Amino acid sequence: MKNHTVTIRFTLNGEPTTVEAAADVSVLHLLREHLGLKGTKEGCGMGECGACTIVVDGRAVNACLMFAPQLDGREVLTVEGLRAEDGLHPLQQAFVDHHGVQCGFCTPGALMSAYALLQENPRAGREEIVTAISGNLCRCTGYRNMVAAIEAARDRRTDK
Ligand code: FES
Ligand code: FES
Repeated sequence: MKNHTVTIRFTLNGEPTTVEAAADVSVLHLLREHLGLKGTKEGCGMGECGACTIVVDGRAVNACLMFAPQLDGREVLTVEGLRAEDGLHPLQQAFVDHHGVQCGFCTPGALMSAYALLQENPRAGREEIVTAISGNLCRCTGYRNMVAAIEAARDRRTDK
């Protein structure tokens, strides 16, 4: 049986976007395979590793757990949209500066979780930071450097 195809209109990294996709395609598949945005990673595919984290209407969500039609009318940010005019986004720069990246597989997801947190709460404390990235499994960093990076990015924002 042929899958039902739907038209999905949403804002992707600031750009109005229209795609046709089967109704049962995941957002993760839509981003990576239909739209060529490979920054969002596929780990477990079942909501457990956080590698696929994106921000939808300001909230960090697992792209593997959403169906593409659920994006209709919404505002979506992926790691590709996370940049500053002059280069790396402050969170990305902080991850580099504080050695919060090793193999890098978890990094896009962790960045998006951290971004959503700091948008919602620019003064988030360590506990809130730890909670925000608790769904982002990292086999390399031991988390300390990631937390330090997010604190540094927070302090840069709140210093202003
Ligand atoms: S790939 Fe989505 S949570 Fe693991
Ligand atoms: S840096 Fe390798 S999994 Fe996190």
